[in-house]
Amino acid sequence: MKAIVYTKFGSPDVLEMKEVAKPTPKDNEVLIRIVATTVAAEDPGIRARPGLNGFLKPKKPILGFYLAGEVEAVGKDVKRFKKSDKVYGNTGLGLLGTYAEYICMPEEAALAMKPANITYEEAAALPNGALTALPFLRDKGKIKSGQKVLINGASGAVGTIAVQFAKYFGADVTGVCSTTNLEMVKSLGADKVIDYTQEDFTKNGQTYDIIFDTVGKSSFSGCKGSLTENGIYLTTVPSPATMIQMLWTSMTGGKKVGIAATGLRPSNEKTKELIFLNGLIETGKIKAVIDRSYPLEQIAEAHKYVEAGHKKGNVVITIDHNAKI
Ligand SMILES: NC(=O)c1ccc[n+]([C@@H]2O[C@H](COP(=O)([O-])OP(=O)(O)OC[C@H]3O[C@@H](n4cnc5c(N)ncnc54)[C@H](OP(=O)(O)O)[C@@H]3O)[C@@H](O)[C@H]2O)c1
Repeated sequence: MKAIVYTKFGSPDVLEMKEVAKPTPKDNEVLIRIVATTVAAEDPGIRARPGLNGFLKPKKPILGFYLAGEVEAVGKDVKRFKKSDKVYGNTGLGLLGTYAEYICMPEEAALAMKPANITYEEAAALPNGALTALPFLRDKGKIKSGQKVLINGASGAVGTIAVQFAKYFGADVTGVCSTTNLEMVKSLGADKVIDYTQEDFTKNGQTYDIIFDTVGKSSFSGCKGSLTENGIYLTTVPSPATMIQMLWTSMTGGKKVGIAATGLRPSNEKTKELIFLNGLIETGKIKAVIDRSYPLEQIAEAHKYVEAGHKKGNVVITIDHNAKI
């Protein structure tokens, strides 16, 4: 099968399309023919630097967290899926491997049936934001109807879904983004939008029950004055100071800090969230925002675009199984 392989950390040029062995499912695994994957915000960092995927060289040679595709075969013990099921999900850091034509995943992995009303591209795009925004807003933020919620970075993969979840939970939502993304964020349901190039939300006198910084461009100290008395500051990109503030505020009353490593949670939690998400997709309450699509062979270009940090929603990779290397 064709796959994008990297054997050393570095620039996007380390990503090479190669012919590698097609995997065979073990008894508890499903073999998925991948139709679409994504380049998530974290992928370029994992490609470029030692750390999350090994130290001397990449531990897993094929990157990619998110996928949508069709089950081609199942191991003899698999009960949850059958051949021809259309599925989508998230492999997690322990497996990666979606920049490829096929992948084997345990049936207990974070996988769900793809809703019929979305494309494979949309299905590949949705879990990144959803499996982050949902645990942050619902579980850490304990979001409630009628609360005032501010989403910073409302135009990114996490932000575009966070705005929609916050609306779904009945909040009054303010989205913070740049000028070019104001209309898009409004179209996702934000009640108000703030253009961060024109206005600093920490200095406009407004207060919020939840400030969710999806892009790590603010700090708890900077946002404290914009939180209500028992408000919570959530961030996907915690600094060492934020981690200490989280511990400290968990022991004291008043304003709190919440952080999470949502990608490292157990698969069964993520699967439950995908099933919950399916209900919202099927009723049109949550939709995917796709900025660009690239074919698998142009993945280095996709990495360059994503690492520039301005993508709107998601960058999707489509896999043409008839393409030649
Ligand atoms: N903790 C966790 O569990 C977890 C889970 C998932 C992701 N993450 C991390 O969360 C971060 C965000 O992920 P993502 O996928 O949503 O990122 P993304 O899609 O790459 O975010 C890019 C968006 O942020 C906007 N942006 C840039 N600077 C901004 C600023 N100063 N204020 C407001 N918006 C700004 C950009 O638009 P403009 O440049 O046009 O403004 C762009 O639309 C990443 O660092 C990722 O690694 C953490």
